[in-house]
Amino acid sequence: MGHLHSRNIIIGVTGGIAAYKIAELIRLLRGDGASVRIILSRGAQAFVTPLTLQSLSGYPVHTELLDETAEMGMGHIELARWADIFLVAPATADTVARLAAGRADDLLTTAALATPAPLFVAPAMNQHMWNNAATTANIQTLRERGVKIIGPDAGEQACGDVGAGRLTEPETISAEISAHFPTRALEGKRAIITAGPTREPMDPVRYISNHSSGKMGFALAQAAAEAGAETILISGPVMLDTPKGVTRINVETALQMHEVCIDQIQKPTDLFVGSAAVADYRAEFNAPQKIKKVGDTLTLNLVRNPDIITEVAGSAHRPSLVVGFAAETEQLLEYAEGKRLTKQLDVVIANDVSQADIGFNSDINGVTWLDDTGHDVMPLTTKQNLAKLLIERCRQKLSQPEDQNKHISAPAEDNR
Ligand code: C5P
Repeated sequence: MGHLHSRNIIIGVTGGIAAYKIAELIRLLRGDGASVRIILSRGAQAFVTPLTLQSLSGYPVHTELLDETAEMGMGHIELARWADIFLVAPATADTVARLAAGRADDLLTTAALATPAPLFVAPAMNQHMWNNAATTANIQTLRERGVKIIGPDAGEQACGDVGAGRLTEPETISAEISAHFPTRALEGKRAIITAGPTREPMDPVRYISNHSSGKMGFALAQAAAEAGAETILISGPVMLDTPKGVTRINVETALQMHEVCIDQIQKPTDLFVGSAAVADYRAEFNAPQKIKKVGDTLTLNLVRNPDIITEVAGSAHRPSLVVGFAAETEQLLEYAEGKRLTKQLDVVIANDVSQADIGFNSDINGVTWLDDTGHDVMPLTTKQNLAKLLIERCRQKLSQPEDQNKHISAPAEDNR
């Protein structure tokens, strides 16, 4: 039974060249068990016919607000109530503006205003229109109201421009919609997640650490627990509340995190995600008293910390799926794949931390998933959403037969 079984999804299609991609989206959503009804704006009908989408969705396509026959079948309020998710895709700049303004002058905007369902908007437009301050403000307004904005992607556009504004691929839209509905698909599974920074003391008042906020790891723990997994969160010092249903073990140093991780994997574990930013080095000696200011320089000897995830992945008690993170500032894919191989990981989530607005400390994140089958760019979205998508992918990987989940068994060269 598909994950979207018995879910009702309305797709409001507006007039853009990308409207043809909705055919594939309907196929994907229905393939996952959803019922899909289409509202087609007048502009969209120039790009795709009601008949095509009717055949694909299996329902009459809704086009007019004041249509007696349609109102007798399923009126616009009833339609709005039917939806568990209301998606507008592709959403033109004009539609985005009209949704932001709360207009209700056609069936699509009226139903979007009347629906109690969460609203998802996947914009598609020329890159200048997307970057225009008016569109930026409208998107911001929608975001502030809790509307989920999916994409847009960047790349070559139908008009010949290159830039942001392409409709996000149907697979990603479908995954975002799936991620909205929690599954209990990890029921009976055990997950261990490390999060946050570690703190390496130099003396009783000073330490070496990093800027990791722990948000990504906490979001992953929340998503794993919501999916039904027994979830252990091993966290360095962070200012975050423990997600519901998660068992949290607080640690300070890399050595403590190492000890707790090795202890926790003694119990059979399905999923291990290392999202902690573990300090690579610690001070060789932790001075028992505060180090005094003497002389112009101070030499601090650092020694290597154990690489926790490498030990977990190489352990006799190896969890079924070991997932690491790679924060890189250059050559993202090469370095991340290198880490996957040396650390013997099944999956690496690669994060480009040279972009100030994503990654460390920010609320949104854009990552690339790398495994033995290749790599896949995940949508730029909130850490909560991304966590749901990543946990769902981990679930899929866990449910693959063992031989498809092979990991590299060569000894690690770099045993950090
Ligand atoms: O080598 P690098 O620190 O970039 O690798 C990042 C990955 O390795 C993350 O998954 C992180 O949690 C893990 N790691 C670890 N122990 C360390 C260093 C990194 O588990 N000492």
